[in-house]
Amino acid sequence: MTYDFDEIIDRKHTNALNTDGFRGYIFGDTEGKMKFPFKDDEFVRMWVADMEFAMCPDVIQAIKDRADKRIIGYSQVFEPDFYEAYNAWNQKMYGWTYPKEEICFSLGIIPALYMLVDLLLGDHDYAIINTPAYGYFQHPIDERHKHAIHNKLKYDAQGNWTIDFDALEKDASNPFAKLLIWCNPQNPTGRVWTEEELRKVAAIVEKHNLWIISDEIHCDLLRQGVKHIPMLRLCQNIKN
Ligand SMILES: Cc1ncc(COP(=O)(O)O)c(C=O)c1O
Repeated sequence: MTYDFDEIIDRKHTNALNTDGFRGYIFGDTEGKMKFPFKDDEFVRMWVADMEFAMCPDVIQAIKDRADKRIIGYSQVFEPDFYEAYNAWNQKMYGWTYPKEEICFSLGIIPALYMLVDLLLGDHDYAIINTPAYGYFQHPIDERHKHAIHNKLKYDAQGNWTIDFDALEKDASNPFAKLLIWCNPQNPTGRVWTEEELRKVAAIVEKHNLWIISDEIHCDLLRQGVKHIPMLRLCQNIKN
């Protein structure tokens, strides 16, 4: 199918954070009272991870078809097609599938992070976060009054980001460390961790009996020839 990447779509009044919420989110101007030297349309909005491209027509059609059934009601994913499609994709792309009974739904990764931080960390426990990190790894820790150990990634003169395994081992051996909030591909460095790196991380997590939240939201955005490896594939014996 051909796709028009040049089409400009008016997103105003769609409750989009990008267009309708940026004044409040970025500038704290929830009432729309601040005066800016530019019109809203003149801002180049590159701050939030959503795009200016139209959704795929098949997805739009599926949403319309669902709306045509006219009653929404309490819903859950009962139809097997979802699980089949999800696992067919995972098998094709990553050589891995997830048993239906182990799949839980969340409104997004951010709500899942808030819930899991609450569930997995006691009041005195620590989560380990590699930094630099996606900001929402820290926000639930702060808001739920938990603690974090920042494990700094190493940056070398050639511009490569790597894991400081000695520091990670030390941080993981802290008796209050209970959880690693992991990101692969990593935001913001863009690192896609190698199998060797992932295995070493998995071994540390296992040795120190930590939980791991592996945020793999960006796994489909890879350069050609780069492969994503789901952490769970390497962490089989960490579960439970
Ligand atoms: C690493 C990472 N995790 C999670 C999210 C957001 O996830 P969600 O929209 O599902 O809450 C983003 C968005 O930029 C992200 O970069």
